[in-house]
Amino acid sequence: ATIKRADALLKQMTTDEKLGQLNQLFVFDPSASIDDFVRKGQVGSLLFVTDPASINRFQHLAVDNSRLHIPLIFGFDVIHGFRTIFPIPLAMASSWDPETVERAQTIAAAEARSVGIDWAFAPMLDIARDPRWGRIMEGAGEDPYLGAAIARAQVRGFQGPAIGTPDHLLACMKHFAGYGAAEGGRDYDASYISDAQLHNVYLPPFHAAVEAGVGSVMSAYMDLNDIPATGNHWLQTEVLRDDWGFQGFVVSDANAVKSLENHGFAKDPADAALRAFNAGVNMEMAIDKTAYSTLPDAYKQGRITLKQIDAAVKPILEAKIQLGLFENPYVDLPHSQQVLNDPAHRVEALRAAEHSAVLRRNENNLLPLAKSTYKSIAVIGPLANGKHDTIGSWAFQEDPNEAVTVLEGLHAKLDATTKIDYAPGVQIKRFFPSFFDEIFHEPKRIDWTPEQAKAEFDKAVDLARSSDLTILTLGETQDMSGEAASRSSLALPGEQEKLLETIASLNKPVVLVLLNGRPLDITWASEHIPAILEAWYPGTQGGTAIANLLTGDAVPGGKLPLSWPRNVGQIPINYTHNLTQDASKQGERYWNEPSTPLYPFGYGLSYSAFSFSNLKVTEPENKVGQPVHVSVDVENTGSIPADEVAQLYIHQQYGSASRPVRELKGFRRITLAPHAKTTVDFTLTPADLSYWNAGSRSWVQDASTFDLWAGDSSAATLHTTFNRAR
Ligand code: IFM
Repeated sequence: ATIKRADALLKQMTTDEKLGQLNQLFVFDPSASIDDFVRKGQVGSLLFVTDPASINRFQHLAVDNSRLHIPLIFGFDVIHGFRTIFPIPLAMASSWDPETVERAQTIAAAEARSVGIDWAFAPMLDIARDPRWGRIMEGAGEDPYLGAAIARAQVRGFQGPAIGTPDHLLACMKHFAGYGAAEGGRDYDASYISDAQLHNVYLPPFHAAVEAGVGSVMSAYMDLNDIPATGNHWLQTEVLRDDWGFQGFVVSDANAVKSLENHGFAKDPADAALRAFNAGVNMEMAIDKTAYSTLPDAYKQGRITLKQIDAAVKPILEAKIQLGLFENPYVDLPHSQQVLNDPAHRVEALRAAEHSAVLRRNENNLLPLAKSTYKSIAVIGPLANGKHDTIGSWAFQEDPNEAVTVLEGLHAKLDATTKIDYAPGVQIKRFFPSFFDEIFHEPKRIDWTPEQAKAEFDKAVDLARSSDLTILTLGETQDMSGEAASRSSLALPGEQEKLLETIASLNKPVVLVLLNGRPLDITWASEHIPAILEAWYPGTQGGTAIANLLTGDAVPGGKLPLSWPRNVGQIPINYTHNLTQDASKQGERYWNEPSTPLYPFGYGLSYSAFSFSNLKVTEPENKVGQPVHVSVDVENTGSIPADEVAQLYIHQQYGSASRPVRELKGFRRITLAPHAKTTVDFTLTPADLSYWNAGSRSWVQDASTFDLWAGDSSAATLHTTFNRAR
């Protein structure tokens, strides 16, 4: 029915009206004069209009005044929440819990849709192995298997079981593809990715999202192996549509079509439009006039055909039909208020923040803090009381007053007999300011004079000295990661390391809470600070979640979705590296330090303890093409209920290509009562044992012997083998 209706509409549309649907414009100022474009049907979509009144106004212009009454589709960056802000995506991936991820995006979708946003520019599925890259905070980390699982969960959360499910919206997987491999971690720089890495590492989460029914795709900004992604026919058509059977539509990233000229790829905007259009980009996102506004001329000159135009417009019309925009184009305000104020959303955000924190170190069980043991607590650090720094970047529609900081969370949690004092100690800020600060009018960070800085530093140290315990909240401000927020260093910015080391030298108990969107160099802390909790940017309920975790009202169970480097020089340090000629000798790879990360992929502690045993393969000897059924016993050997993530890794010992030392091929987050034991089953499908062979340029499954490990991280030691023969 959708296809027929889109075809019927196409028959009535003029070529100009069709091409109009391919334009998407930013609206930073809803009173700006784009009304005429809308009335004339020269624009198919607007982005960044978020207030329901403006959305209704624009929609009335389109529906009442345009000749064929075609509604607009409103897009927005709904990344980790809309009004209720969840932990950043990297944190959500640290939950290793697709259900939690799906629930969060279901809530984000309902809130955004209630105000008239039909389309989320998410999920971001870029595999990232370079923490210098600022957008690492927006993805699921370094691993394609975990990335694919999180991708599927996000698509289900945003779209529901099918596009058009009430209270859901259209998802847009981005940035297709290879954006996370920017050279040097510098945002927007070119990516050079081998054929093997592209197929085995960077594309799988995107393919998984297409299989899960994602309705739209955003093309990436950068050059992929010298061909800009937005002008890349191989990516946007051959892989996406021909190989994967994608039926939806592709939108460019902001100004990415016009930028084809900056890349030295297109001659001028008209050429850029043609190159993107011919590559398979249906819609152009632009800050002002689109390059696609030259397409009517291209058609008149016979450079594009009506058939091509129809093929480009049709999936956009289909999405509008599927979303129900023709029947229900307007915002229902009372419903919106009800959805935005639903207290259940805050409860879920709290649970998600608790679920995604990762406990790194806990010497002598310093955590959880017994509530009455410490009579005075010093809360120190520049991030301990920042609303925005709790929420993280890529949140625009939150109510900052709703956000609970670490300081506020602790105040609310600890009874009146505990004295809590706060001192920031240091100030931190970006060297080059973020362009988002200007666009979104972020509050300016105040500058202390050198004298004030010294006095504040001393005050914090004195406070730590006179308190029973210090909770240091360090990391990066929210604008230090995200888009256009890459760094050449992983050090704690500013004087934070000095503050940390000075306070540690007082020989009082110290807990380090990290708020950050990327791995930071905490090598010194990992040896000297007894308790370290990675909270990422935990969202609106972050402070409450952290207070619950520190006091044991919640038990950490998150795991790292990336290998945590010791320092910037180790990048990339992903666990899925290949074997070398002889990996056993220390000093052959780096002579100055181990070639292992500080914390392995999949790592995270609990207040309880778990043991893994009895790793079994039902049919260890079998033919290629047969599934592998695996089981492992997991026991909670501690005395409190807690979560563990059972992880399964394989290694192919020999074959038609070298394969990584380990690859994640299964995981499950489980909750176990004290002393309870359970059996976790996994099935490895033939696809799980296959890989893209760059020699034959095809997917292959080799006959081989496979190592298998199960455990609580990528360093798991419980081992067995199985064979698959021809
Ligand atoms: O969705 C984003 C994209 O990730 C980066 N450029 C701007 C787009 C729209 O805000």
